[in-house]
Amino acid sequence: MNSLKQKILTEGKVLSDSVIKVDAFLNHQVDPTFMQLIGEEFSKRFTGSGITKVLTLESSGIAPAVMTGLSLGVPVVFARKHKSLTLHEQLYSAEVYSYTKQEANDIAVSKDYLDDHDRVLIIDDILANGQAALGMVNIIDQSGAALEGIGVVIEKGFQEGREVLRKHDIRVESLAAIESLSDGQVTFQTKEVLSQ
Ligand code: G4P
Repeated sequence: MNSLKQKILTEGKVLSDSVIKVDAFLNHQVDPTFMQLIGEEFSKRFTGSGITKVLTLESSGIAPAVMTGLSLGVPVVFARKHKSLTLHEQLYSAEVYSYTKQEANDIAVSKDYLDDHDRVLIIDDILANGQAALGMVNIIDQSGAALEGIGVVIEKGFQEGREVLRKHDIRVESLAAIESLSDGQVTFQTKEVLSQ
């Protein structure tokens, strides 16, 4: 998605060889009109998959997920990271370890909002090591729902997320795949590399 790549180049800040700050449009401030385009692009890519629900993880996944749900005309559920007061038996839960933050979080979704009639599209902001996505896949498995695929706004192609998900035979669509952040420069993978 060229407009997204442009935004990454002009508004992203490379913090190191492995981390890019995208607070300006994804992790802190959101441009709703641009986010709507992102939702429409995901919707287009997953048209015909019979999706009944979009699942994401709070907090930065919510904006692209809501816009995707709007475009597909389906509800959006966001997994929560913090312990709920609700009884554990009423939740699907999974542990997610973040290599970036070096901490483990329990994520949870109420059984009221996901079941074996659902066909689910996972949407997330950034795919790095794939652990957040795997946690959501685990929750979908517990619910008996079908997973149709995963859409991520930005894929860090030099980390293992895509490979981890490919081993689970999961369709992954990223709108911008970063090949490298070396020397303060962002370079993107080409479509050809992505589809290999
Ligand atoms: P994973 O989710 O793919 O396993 O990756 P990882 O554990 O490494 O990432 C943990 C958190 O850090 C995620 O956000 C992820 O989006 C974010 N992250 C990873 N690499 C980068 C990066 O280069 N730039 C930015 N801006 N974020 C990165 P999170 O904990 O879910 O945070 P949030 O949704 O509350 O914002």
